[in-house]
Amino acid sequence: KNELPVAVTIFGAKGDLTRRKLIPALYNLYIENHLPPLFSIFCIDFLETESAAFKTDLLEGINEFSRSGQADPVKWKAFSSKIIYMKGDFQETTTFQNLKEKLVDFDKQNSQRSIRIFYLATAPRFIEVIADGLYQYTACNKDKQDRIVIEKPFGTDLDSAKKLNLFLLKRFTEKQLYRIDHYLGKETVQNILAFRFANNVFEPLWNNKYIDHVQISLAEQVGVGKRGGYYDSSGALRDMIQNHLLQLLCIVAMDCPGAYKAELIRDAKTKVLKYIRPFTSRDVFKNVIRAQYTEGTVNNQPVPGYRKEAQVLPDSSTETFVTAKLFIDNKRWRGVPFFIATGKALPRQVSVIVIQFKNSPNKIFKDDTVPNRLVISIQPELEISLLFENKVPGLEMKLQPVDMDFMYKDAYTGSLPEAYEALLLDVLEGDPTLFMRADQVEAAWKVVMPILDAWKKNPSKKLLFYPAGTWGPEAALKLIRPHAKKWFQLPRIERLVRM
Ligand code: BG6
Repeated sequence: KNELPVAVTIFGAKGDLTRRKLIPALYNLYIENHLPPLFSIFCIDFLETESAAFKTDLLEGINEFSRSGQADPVKWKAFSSKIIYMKGDFQETTTFQNLKEKLVDFDKQNSQRSIRIFYLATAPRFIEVIADGLYQYTACNKDKQDRIVIEKPFGTDLDSAKKLNLFLLKRFTEKQLYRIDHYLGKETVQNILAFRFANNVFEPLWNNKYIDHVQISLAEQVGVGKRGGYYDSSGALRDMIQNHLLQLLCIVAMDCPGAYKAELIRDAKTKVLKYIRPFTSRDVFKNVIRAQYTEGTVNNQPVPGYRKEAQVLPDSSTETFVTAKLFIDNKRWRGVPFFIATGKALPRQVSVIVIQFKNSPNKIFKDDTVPNRLVISIQPELEISLLFENKVPGLEMKLQPVDMDFMYKDAYTGSLPEAYEALLLDVLEGDPTLFMRADQVEAAWKVVMPILDAWKKNPSKKLLFYPAGTWGPEAALKLIRPHAKKWFQLPRIERLVRM
């Protein structure tokens, strides 16, 4: 556990991420004694704001979004006394000089050099200017292992990601860079490694001999809301697939890393990306479905069509829904399709991984047997369930599939740490396991580039539409056949339902 003083600096302190995620996460780490006794949080943004008003806003953020609920007044008072708001333009050198002064003062007070963490919670266009400011004017020292945390999106395509990596690596070492993919901090995602590599039951079957196909779906109820400006130039492929979905795929498909060591794990994941069969432009229009939501109803609330959302172009061809079929051409997975899916304005929020096993070769029962299916439910249900055939009690030999279910809420009490808590603690402790290395980011861009290129050349070719509040276009369903009759959503809903 780190006991050195820590100075966290947040660029983009007035932004949504700071209020919804970063401060609640830091507060929870604080109340659960994960922060060292000496810490300070310097918050920088270009807006003028009274310190008291700023802190009240952060407190409301905690009360609204933190898993620990309403902040304890005494603890909040102590915690918030460590927060310092500084108005600063990211483009001006004085911002970084002022910051340096503050950091040096903090160290003097403590008579110790602190660990410095710089969190770039800003729009991507500020990454370079802030990184350069830190490099030139604020002692961001590689020997002291000062760290920079960078939010996604990391580049907008392979070229821009490479350029950004080069830019950063000229100024800092890879060890100092923490590229966040918050999915990797989710408890249920971290558990996949434990599930796969600490149990001997599944790993021997985890290959093309026993597995028919894999489905990874990240469905969201939310539309683009206030993020139309960003989203319209991004789209679901860049926003969800290049990062979260491909990372989940890596964790599901990777070989055993040999040891629980950051670089070995990151190597094993990167290898998966390198083995993904490159999409040809023909594949793109055959095996990748893109669609956009039109007006509809989600959760009994009316949702405007995507093109009517604020800051979205009225003739936008940006996709809000993507499903794709891809293959990993290595020994373990050759021939096994991986179906990935994500979409906004869908009927339910559900992130789920389905491992569909092949049917039993023993055809001794007169009923058709339903093949085993393992469902790892990431959110909102936290659950792992295995479907298997069972004899229906009674005098006949009749079979029916049932579920063996593990639910977090039955097995553990208390709330689970938020992804950002886990990730911030890792930054503090200098553990990069759950962060994206430069080559991982680039390898993931390589996978999606042929899709982006084909869509760019043919902006509206095969762009489909689905009413908000439905499970996407019919074509998404066709893609998954003949492997499955449907995309599986929730294990509980599937229970006792025959395929
Ligand atoms: C973000 C995307 O990275 O992940 C958002 O930019 C998306 O568009 C979000 O809504 C989903 O994260 P979670 O943790 O709510 O599933």
